[in-house]
Amino acid sequence: MNLYEKFILPRLLDCACGLSVINEHRAEITQQASGLTLELGIGSGLNHQFYEQNKLISIVGIDPSDQLLRIAKVRSEKSNVSTQLYRAVGEKLPFQDKTFDSVVVTFAFCSIPNPLGALKEIKRVCKPTGQLLFCEHGLAKSPQIQKWQHRIEPIWKKVAGGCHLTRDIGALIKDAGFSVKKMENAYVHAAPKFVGFLYKGAASPNI
Ligand SMILES: C[S@@+](CC[C@H](N)C(=O)[O-])C[C@H]1O[C@@H](n2cnc3c(N)ncnc32)[C@H](O)[C@@H]1O
Repeated sequence: MNLYEKFILPRLLDCACGLSVINEHRAEITQQASGLTLELGIGSGLNHQFYEQNKLISIVGIDPSDQLLRIAKVRSEKSNVSTQLYRAVGEKLPFQDKTFDSVVVTFAFCSIPNPLGALKEIKRVCKPTGQLLFCEHGLAKSPQIQKWQHRIEPIWKKVAGGCHLTRDIGALIKDAGFSVKKMENAYVHAAPKFVGFLYKGAASPNI
């Protein structure tokens, strides 16, 4: 890990992901979480303020970044939501099968090196009655925007911590063995279209 990745990138991610235009989307997804909830790729804990505490047992957050987990710890301590944080990757979750009632993932499938592997792990640790709640950015529907996403992605990945622009999040979720119960696509208001095409919704594991 170089100095940029260690000291600058975590702060940049916290600022970029903390933009207020995303908050309404974060709130809509996290407020549906209930019971024992895993937040995968929790980052700096920006979703904490939006969880509905009375619906939760607790939140278990995982992320591979020590720097971001440190910020998430401060945010979780300021909230009243019971939280445990672990350094781990989504592709190898340190939890038993069928543990969680809800799994929340926001703006993380873009950065996870093997998103299909992580989704298969989510399916494993999610209870059969549980749900995956997601809000992600990815491949736009418009061929014109897609062209720009493919052009920009190689540089973008280098400066934005491995963030991909061209992942079809809906297809990945289905390929991993989930039924998508609802999914909405929208552009984030006032964000550049190449990075602002959202996939937002809920899915349940196929049994
Ligand atoms: C753009 S940030 C989003 C953080 C947070 N989910 C949010 O909504 O603000 C992407 C996150 O994915 C995490 N990440 C990268 N690789 C990962 C992996 N293999 N497993 C889980 N999380 C990963 C990063 O450390 C970072 O916290």
